[in-house]
Amino acid sequence: MGFFHRPRIAVRPMERSEFQRLPEHVAIIMDGNGRWAKKHRLSVSLGHRQGMETVRSVIRHTNDLGIQSLSLYAFSTENWSRPRQEVEALMQILVEFITADIDKLDAKNVRVRMMGDKGRLPELPRNAMTDAEERTAGNTGMNLNLCINYGGRDELVRAAQTLARACAGGEMEAEAITEKAFSEALYTRGQPDVDLMIRTSGEMRLSNFLLWQCAYAEFVFPEKLWPDFTVQDYDRVLTDFSGRQRRFGGRV
Ligand code: IPE
Ligand code: IPE
Ligand code: MG
Repeated sequence: MGFFHRPRIAVRPMERSEFQRLPEHVAIIMDGNGRWAKKHRLSVSLGHRQGMETVRSVIRHTNDLGIQSLSLYAFSTENWSRPRQEVEALMQILVEFITADIDKLDAKNVRVRMMGDKGRLPELPRNAMTDAEERTAGNTGMNLNLCINYGGRDELVRAAQTLARACAGGEMEAEAITEKAFSEALYTRGQPDVDLMIRTSGEMRLSNFLLWQCAYAEFVFPEKLWPDFTVQDYDRVLTDFSGRQRRFGGRV
């Protein structure tokens, strides 16, 4: 090896024991696929396709770190307003991802859940999601929440309807609608609140994601576009989180 030829030092992913504290529930708004595609003069769907590679590495690392829940915002209730071609490409990429990766996820004891209104989804993604949910229903490892046709307000309205029906049917008193009961009527029932919310691409907004669950979340906004976001970037975000002082309204 020549003198000037320095070997590249591979940065290894961090391990659980290296963090002072880790979140129990990480939520990610995977943003920037469109800008990434534009930057590389590629079609938007290729941007989404490249974004799927980041999805894979982030899922793997979250699972390796033993984090309980990972919620990924893949398609919002507002994303239907995008060009039809893009919506179709996105749905297809989601189906490809779930069918290609379900064996591996299942083998790793991951429980896949789809969060969002399945009703409006085309048959193919709807069936792929239902299959993945059913296949992994008994798994006890990480919860992988795929948020597809998800809207935070839509979720809250649905929860209100569920509770209202229970009251009208005489199964429940209005006074029994507590924060706990409300949480149990959401898609995330049984899972901890979001501790860490990440949105890539420098945008700093929630875009209707997990409104209830984010009440006390810590927010991090990495500049990187989603397809460029690496495991090292993820580790940096988690390190930032582990150093934050969370007060929950108290005085520490
Ligand atoms: C986010 O990337 C992914 C989805 C909405 C599915 P965008 O497509 O919103 O990327 P930008 O914001 O246009 O760069
Ligand atoms: C939010 O990103 C939705 C997903 C990442 C799936 P958008 O790119 O759709 O959000 P806005 O329109 O910039 O708020
Ligand atoms: Mg966007």
